[in-house]
Amino acid sequence: MNKKTFLLLITAISALGGLLFGYDTGVINGAQFYLSKYFELDATLKGWVVGSALLGCFIGAIVAGPMSIKFGRKWSLIMSAILFSVSAWGSGLPEMLPETVTMLVVFRIIGGLGIGIASMNAPMYIAEIAPSNIRGKMVTYYQLAIVVGFFVVFLATYFIGNSLTEAQNLQFGWRRMFWSELVPSLLFLVLLFFVPKSPRWLAIKGEDNQALDILSKVHGEDKAQKELIEIKSSLKSDEPKVKVNYFSKAILAIIIIGTALSVLQQFTGINAVLYYGADIFEKALGFGKEDVLAQQILLAFVNLVFTFVAMYTVDKYGRKPLLYVGSIGMILGFLLLGVSLQQNAVGVVSLIGVLIFIGSFALSMGPVVWVILSEMFPNKIRSVAMSVAVAAQWAANYLVSQTFPMVMESEANNSAPWNGSMPYFIFIAFILVIIFLTYKFIPETKGKSLEEIEAFWE
Ligand code: GLC
Repeated sequence: MNKKTFLLLITAISALGGLLFGYDTGVINGAQFYLSKYFELDATLKGWVVGSALLGCFIGAIVAGPMSIKFGRKWSLIMSAILFSVSAWGSGLPEMLPETVTMLVVFRIIGGLGIGIASMNAPMYIAEIAPSNIRGKMVTYYQLAIVVGFFVVFLATYFIGNSLTEAQNLQFGWRRMFWSELVPSLLFLVLLFFVPKSPRWLAIKGEDNQALDILSKVHGEDKAQKELIEIKSSLKSDEPKVKVNYFSKAILAIIIIGTALSVLQQFTGINAVLYYGADIFEKALGFGKEDVLAQQILLAFVNLVFTFVAMYTVDKYGRKPLLYVGSIGMILGFLLLGVSLQQNAVGVVSLIGVLIFIGSFALSMGPVVWVILSEMFPNKIRSVAMSVAVAAQWAANYLVSQTFPMVMESEANNSAPWNGSMPYFIFIAFILVIIFLTYKFIPETKGKSLEEIEAFWE
């Protein structure tokens, strides 16, 4: 097998972790519709059933750090695939399990743990194995997979929902929606056994020969030698066990910058739009709930198309230009939506605003944050730093998705001068912070080896 095909296969397999991320967070949209009737859930319980997975994601991202240091990226991903599969099976509450909401929540949390672990390990693994000149594109495959996951699950739940009668849907439609996740999760589990271990993790563990072997397969033999020497010197120690002081000023600063970027990705409001898109459209355009699926598919489609734009530009123009262009686009999109709401002039312009926002996010903060997070941290601290940044991102995700409906329904928002536009102006303020952070603190990492990026911080 040639180098390129080999790399593409490894990347595609690990990116399945992203697909499950999108699939598993998206499946609840369709499933909750029926299971909340089946279990007669009130608003609080419903919020808990929907939000519990995010709690699992947060915990998963935290344990992912120590886990990936100890067992490596590959075995952490295998663990996540097992958790995904167990959750998919259990969330459908098969006959052998007690049929209670608590049981359902437990299995949703188990799935969340899987997402948390995969969301940190998959992009990191891809970045650690990819050659520097196409690393941005390779990690963007991961974001592409997340978006495809959302897209596929919307189609799957639509198909399942439509193939059954209302009564059947209440009885087992939602179970099938969860069980459908077994297809990608078992595939992920099996295929993971064919990917090699991360060469950088192997080097940290002192397994230099194995690391060299894998690097040679991806980069060719000459480059591999050079790369291994760089990795070893970045570890600045000949001892097999690398010790780090995470509380030194320099390291703390890098972790804070990465975490800020990661949290700001959520404060753009992307998941408010993706999770509550239907409500936004209903408010802005007076669309009926029946059009929900069409709208969700439209959003997911625009998201998908513009992720490709990022894929083909991120290594050519660099990470920072995409962040600038995307941020300006996101602001423009929310201005259109916000001002039209504020002026009580909702209509096509508002819809265009939402679409401009999604497209701009998809070509910038969506993929680029994953790219930068997976490459900005020095070898020695990557696992821990990445797990802090990703756990904070899940907490921010939870915060935005919990508070967005509250702000949207609030009285202040629904009266003059806001007339429903308040959340979007709040998001715009955060996007301005992104431009500042990018300008001031984010290094351009295009084309540099992970070790060269490390040298930048010094
Ligand atoms: C990014 C975000 C994720 C979001 C997705 C949408 O991957 O991390 O929270 O759902 O983009 O495309």
